Amino acid sequence: MQDIPRKSEKMSTHQATEDQRNEEILIYLNGQIVPKAQATVSVYDSGFMLGDGVWEGLRLYNGTWAFIDEHLDRLFEAAKAIDLDIGLDRDGVKQAVLDTQKANEMTTDAHARLMITRGVKTRPFQHPSLSQQGPTMVIIMEHSKPNLPRPIRLATVPHLRGLPMTQDPKLNSHSKLNCILACIAAEKAGADEGLMLDVNGFVNTTNACNFFIVRRGAVWTSTGDYCMNGITRQKVIDLCRANDIPVFERNYSLVDTYGADEAFLTGTFGAQTPVGDIDGRQIGSGEMGPVTERIRGLYKAMIEAECT
Ligand SMILES: Cc1ncc(COP(=O)(O)O)c(C=O)c1O
Repeated sequence: MQDIPRKSEKMSTHQATEDQRNEEILIYLNGQIVPKAQATVSVYDSGFMLGDGVWEGLRLYNGTWAFIDEHLDRLFEAAKAIDLDIGLDRDGVKQAVLDTQKANEMTTDAHARLMITRGVKTRPFQHPSLSQQGPTMVIIMEHSKPNLPRPIRLATVPHLRGLPMTQDPKLNSHSKLNCILACIAAEKAGADEGLMLDVNGFVNTTNACNFFIVRRGAVWTSTGDYCMNGITRQKVIDLCRANDIPVFERNYSLVDTYGADEAFLTGTFGAQTPVGDIDGRQIGSGEMGPVTERIRGLYKAMIEAECT
């Protein structure tokens, strides 16, 4: 029988080594860079009140923000989709990231959460026209080294990746309630993160990362519908194609997934994270498999080439 994780063994895909320096970080808030304790937003902010905003997660390696152009493309696309004027152009947003990095004297192993909301409302109601003071932009930049003591455990949850005409799951929106409910359900089932199906019952993604399986040396991921258009996801697909690893974007079910030799997650924070268990079924050996390890190596080399 497999162990049920005890409370002390709780883990998340965004787990990092404890770093006391994060108590002293400086935060970008609307053009100012202020100490963490002073980095506060109004209770009338549309992000706080309604989850009305968009965000990006970025990672710093060797003095370079990895794939920042792709992140900015996705940010501006999302802002356009929700009709939010960021108030800065691409260079302005990039400069804000660089200024925050400089103020924090960070050179590598840092993670930034860049958030932009529709800003402070004049009254506490939903209508976007009540946000009249311009957007609120915040960059939280932390020292961050992913640290996972064991492969991730997933549980399939009842929360679906929905159709694009409700809340398009491709939007990196502030409101993540569907994903948070998925994560809570997974935790209650004794897992670390929720494995989410699409509206047709095919395996799609997890609540915070993209999801891949490996079967007989081939790498499978979802068609790309219903999941975040993850930048790391695309890099992994590109790396497989460039290195003769068969890779398929296709529909597949839980039967294919439980029977996989390996499974892993992708995201900017953790790069590629091995999955050891899904719904109480051990995946492969339960440890990181050789294809996952190879892809991690290829990704590391890609980062070293990109970020010098
Ligand atoms: C739901 C979800 N899936 C996947 C990802 C990973 O995307 P990326 O590889 O661009 O970090 C994210 C990160 O923002 C996410 O929120």
